[in-house]
Amino acid sequence: MKLKIFAAVLIVVFVGTIFVFKNNNGGEVMAEAKSNKKVLVAYFSASGVTAGVADKLSKAIGADLFEIKPAQPYTNADLDWTNKKSRSSVEMDDRSSRPAIANKVTDMSKYDVIFVGFPIWWYREPSIIDTFMESYDFSGKQVIPFATSGGSGMGDSGSIMQKLAPKAKVDNGKRFSSGVSEKDLKTWASKWL
Ligand SMILES: Cc1cc2nc3c(=O)[nH]c(=O)nc-3n(C[C@H](O)[C@H](O)[C@H](O)COP(=O)(O)O)c2cc1C
Repeated sequence: MKLKIFAAVLIVVFVGTIFVFKNNNGGEVMAEAKSNKKVLVAYFSASGVTAGVADKLSKAIGADLFEIKPAQPYTNADLDWTNKKSRSSVEMDDRSSRPAIANKVTDMSKYDVIFVGFPIWWYREPSIIDTFMESYDFSGKQVIPFATSGGSGMGDSGSIMQKLAPKAKVDNGKRFSSGVSEKDLKTWASKWL
């Protein structure tokens, strides 16, 4: 009888060990799959605020960083939103405006997830972001907009960007203040990693 009980205990311990081992392995595979995603943080910043947030985000999540540089840099006069004839006012007034970009992401095809950062201009993404969205094949990729602003939210940025890159999966994204912490950015971004 004692021998039977001993044998039964042995079997339970053995099966239990295999179960725990299998589960642990599964967990590891999942963690690996998560970290295998290639992530890019691409941003446009006219006066440095979005650049600061983009830099923090890329560090927080270990992503590559790419600055979207205008072929013709924006001067202070260009950014004067009180002047209806300033370059930014004229561009933002014309939905078909596509300011040229000076540089190119070397190999966009290798990325699975692309965070796209910009300042809010007239309640949406600047026209140069529209140029960016039309410059690559985003098929099957997850695109997440993020922005800084004087206070406005994302407006229709996400849905406009989705229309410009219909094969991508574009989230509505989020507006951050310049002082957002790396920790908060990481928590927000982890959903897509
Ligand atoms: C042409 C222009 C239009 C702007 N429109 C808005 C706006 O609609 N709402 C808002 O809250 N801030 C607006 N801002 C402020 C910027 O979004 C804000 O200063 C942003 O953080 C600047 O980011 P950057 O330094 O990366 O360019 C505007 C700024 C400019 C130059």
